[in-house]
Amino acid sequence: MRAFITGASSGIGRELAFQLAELNYDLILVARRYERLEEIKKQITNRDVIIIQSDLNDPDQLSALFKQLKSYEIDLFINNAGFGKVGDSIEIDTSQEIKMIELNIISLHALTKFAIQHMHKGKIVNISSLAAYLPTPKLASYAATKSYVTNYSMALDYELKKLKVPIKVLSVAPGPIKTEFGKVAGVNQKMKGMDVKKCVKKMIKGIENNKKVIVPGFKMKLLKFILHFIPRRWVLASAYKIQNKK
Ligand SMILES: NC(=O)c1ccc[n+]([C@@H]2O[C@H](COP(=O)([O-])OP(=O)(O)OC[C@H]3O[C@@H](n4cnc5c(N)ncnc54)[C@H](OP(=O)(O)O)[C@@H]3O)[C@@H](O)[C@H]2O)c1
Repeated sequence: MRAFITGASSGIGRELAFQLAELNYDLILVARRYERLEEIKKQITNRDVIIIQSDLNDPDQLSALFKQLKSYEIDLFINNAGFGKVGDSIEIDTSQEIKMIELNIISLHALTKFAIQHMHKGKIVNISSLAAYLPTPKLASYAATKSYVTNYSMALDYELKKLKVPIKVLSVAPGPIKTEFGKVAGVNQKMKGMDVKKCVKKMIKGIENNKKVIVPGFKMKLLKFILHFIPRRWVLASAYKIQNKK
């Protein structure tokens, strides 16, 4: 069994690499910081680990990655790389936002299309966010990118099922997790986040159980459920309050 993970140099992707290696997966790990991937490869001695430096924002590097991937049979294809920017949209640098949209949506879309056309069977797991379910002032464009990820994954999974293609498309919707996300987003995360090891353990359980949308942690599952019943203006006001504290 082989798993492919983007954004494996840090946070959720890095932890997925270690926990999947424990479950006997060989790995293909992708990120821009090659030295970090080398460190992970050094530590995982019992599995075949291929590391690829690629900036998924660069169409040429993405094409080169596709060429490399054609030589491998992949069972678990995880689109994890992504980032957010917190702040008032009027102030956030537009070029950073466009980069985020390109990474979180366009490269994830291209990778997912590659996977459905080249995998013979298996699972694609797209890392979304709980923010996908709520318009989030001060994290507006990031939350919107994750709505795309969740809705696209669900619809694609349904299409493949109808076509009897043996590939499942699952998505993961974590709440706050302790990773480098906050630093990249430009905030000091004051909110308590879930431990990344715990989060990934729950994610893997969800993947094994073929959960269409995996929400790690009871509190976040409850929040997702409650969101269906709360008026949007209240959701907007409390999301704004939470982001404003960061
Ligand atoms: N942490 C949270 O609270 C949280 C909550 C919900 C959802 N998520 C989602 O979880 C996923 C993983 O985030 P994380 O929390 O683990 O954050 P993280 O620690 O910042 O990790 C992000 C990963 O993405 C990679 N990456 C960023 N830009 C890239 C690019 N252009 N090309 C290739 N790789 C790139 C980074 O590697 P390099 O910099 O080495 O390229 C890094 O490995 C993201 O999709 C995020 O939106 C996070």
